[in-house]
Amino acid sequence: MEFMLDTADTKAIQELSDLLTIAGVTTNPTIITKSKKDPEQVLGEIASILEPSQKMFVQVVKTDFDGIMEEARRIATLRPENMYVKIPVTPAGLKAIKQCKEEGIHTLATAIYSAAEGFMAAANGADYLAPYVNRMCNYGDGVGEVIRLIKMLAVNHMDTKVIAASFKNSGQVNELIENGIQAVTVPPEVVREMIGHPGTSIAVDEFSQNWENSYGRSELFSK
Ligand code: E4P
Repeated sequence: MEFMLDTADTKAIQELSDLLTIAGVTTNPTIITKSKKDPEQVLGEIASILEPSQKMFVQVVKTDFDGIMEEARRIATLRPENMYVKIPVTPAGLKAIKQCKEEGIHTLATAIYSAAEGFMAAANGADYLAPYVNRMCNYGDGVGEVIRLIKMLAVNHMDTKVIAASFKNSGQVNELIENGIQAVTVPPEVVREMIGHPGTSIAVDEFSQNWENSYGRSELFSK
């Protein structure tokens, strides 16, 4: 299972990559605008923070087929490897995913709201599918629909990976990991929720206090 960060916040990427095993970073146009930086600057910064083995995902902004392809070819050159183009599953986007497959450009089909949209993008050769879990919950059972997509790919022996996105809480992430999702992309605030149970620091404080009370020092060994 690949765990990715859904952010363009370079400080958070650095901090969480040091702490955790992060397979890559996903962005979208809205996420880039939140950085309040020039897009090319922030993309350059993310590319320089990531190890070559970590994946980077950048979404096209243009919405017509020719425009998508022009941006996709350019995005693909941002890094020598592990560079993925995010393309929304509109009719023009689906056509572009097919064309990218022919040109050897790695893609992530994004803005997926149903298992059927995801399945079609997989058939066109997308490497990853990003269903928008939380947003799908506004239309019905978001988590259930993603589980259905995972099954549709599995029974058809398709190797496209589902990278669930658009998470608003750790419960949604846990439920999909429990159901065999291949990848998730999670915003830093939800990642912090996943690793920040208050009981952990209470337990550690208790260990330190008991040690100090018994041995009068804070280290395991007495020098
Ligand atoms: C990631 O790839 C998606 O673009 C992102 O998770 C969408 O998240 P949102 O629903 O919070 O905008």
